[in-house]
Amino acid sequence: MKNDLERARNFEKKYLPRVKKDEMPHFHVTGGVGWINDPNGFSVYQSEYHLFFQYYPYDVKWGPMHWGHVKTTDFIHWARLPCALAPDSPYDKDGCFSGGAVELHDGRQLLMYTGVKNTRRSNGTVVGTQTQCLAVGNGVDYFKYDKNPVLDAKDLPEGGNPIDFRDPKIWFENGLYYAVVGNRTADKSGSILLFESEDGFDWRFSSVLASCHNQFGKMWECPDFFELDGRHVLLTSPQDMSSMGLEFHPGNSTLCIIGSYDRERKHLIRSNTQAVDYGTDFYAMQTVKAIDGRRVMIAWMQSWETSGCKPDKLPFFGQMTLPRELSIKDGRLIQKPVHEIERFRSVKVGYENVIISDETNLQGVKGRFIDMTVTVRPGNKNQMYRYFKLNVAKDGEHVTMIRHKPENNTIRVDRSRSGFPHDIVNVRDFPIAAHDELKLRIIMDRYSLELFVNDGEQAASFVIYTPVMADSISFSSDGAAIIDVEKYELEV
Ligand code: FRU
Repeated sequence: MKNDLERARNFEKKYLPRVKKDEMPHFHVTGGVGWINDPNGFSVYQSEYHLFFQYYPYDVKWGPMHWGHVKTTDFIHWARLPCALAPDSPYDKDGCFSGGAVELHDGRQLLMYTGVKNTRRSNGTVVGTQTQCLAVGNGVDYFKYDKNPVLDAKDLPEGGNPIDFRDPKIWFENGLYYAVVGNRTADKSGSILLFESEDGFDWRFSSVLASCHNQFGKMWECPDFFELDGRHVLLTSPQDMSSMGLEFHPGNSTLCIIGSYDRERKHLIRSNTQAVDYGTDFYAMQTVKAIDGRRVMIAWMQSWETSGCKPDKLPFFGQMTLPRELSIKDGRLIQKPVHEIERFRSVKVGYENVIISDETNLQGVKGRFIDMTVTVRPGNKNQMYRYFKLNVAKDGEHVTMIRHKPENNTIRVDRSRSGFPHDIVNVRDFPIAAHDELKLRIIMDRYSLELFVNDGEQAASFVIYTPVMADSISFSSDGAAIIDVEKYELEV
């Protein structure tokens, strides 16, 4: 147990140099080797952005969780740092689960994570107890706190369950450290608990910030809570969600609650709820308040349900989304790719007022590392097209299709022919708001497609494993559509 961290770091030293750049995304975070899931500890430390992640270096599947580590100054270029935490202590021997990070006033970096310890009951079943633990470090090396765990079963409110008590997100505000943590409640669903501390080490229960009441899934994982444009936002990733129209998909889903914060009761009063992302691959998002004040979010660009599904030869598993800037407009969460990505645009190809009816290719419009915006208007003012299709990552065999159907104002993304070796969930439909024109911005980075509709009113993330040579793009519509295209290569 003792040498687990050393073993992980040695493994990285040996295998990371063998990673081939031409097998990897160019600007989306991966583990380099092994498996990653949730983003952890997304925070500012000594004027740089640190990102940790759930990590199993030794295989492309989930295993005893470590914390991997990268940092950036521009959200695009990420420097890899050595593995930060390994499950090497009695209280976290079965995993260092998700958590947060904050810069302490003395210049050290504090990590708070969930320690998992399994015990075997007399009937043979294994139960994992989850507690909140600390590690302190200098941005590279971390030492686990000798009084761990700092929050356990005794800190839970009545009905709280220590088997599902995880994923602390910590921050500092008005002289206090705060943590929000997910917890299973007596009604078998979930709640988000708020804890406080004067020094970051000595923690006490403060309030139940919000409860699920079996309304939006069950256990709420990976909470984050912050002020945004004068409102308060709670982000969480519910397990066992039931579908609700086209808003939420079943299974592991995402939930954004926008509301106001009752500071006396320390309780969030709900106004609006929505999914965070409408794609097949998005979970466990976490945010940071950037140095310039922006609220920037990153997520695991993957679904748990399909996490075994990848081409055989892929040397790594799991990637993060591109970081996104958040805002609120008309009571909804707006997401835009961080503006830093625009610095890496090159080779502009632009078209205006192109009439589309049959399948059309436009000279120079192709690629798999691209930032492209397509604006679509009906060709005839009095008659809307029946559908408009944008096909990307295309060759004779492959295609990933984005379709707008004005009749019910939905977008469908279909990745059934996008390089997957199994028949998994490949299609998502989601509602959009009606506007005079439709704006589709897509960012592609080899193995992913992120779609931003109408300046970020909806975002939808998809993993694709289409061979990179399939880089053709085409447009078609039933009934004329008029489009403008602005396409850039991304050279990162
Ligand atoms: C969410 C999650 C977290 C947990 C982690 C374990 O994806 O289940 O609740 O901390 O993954 O890897």
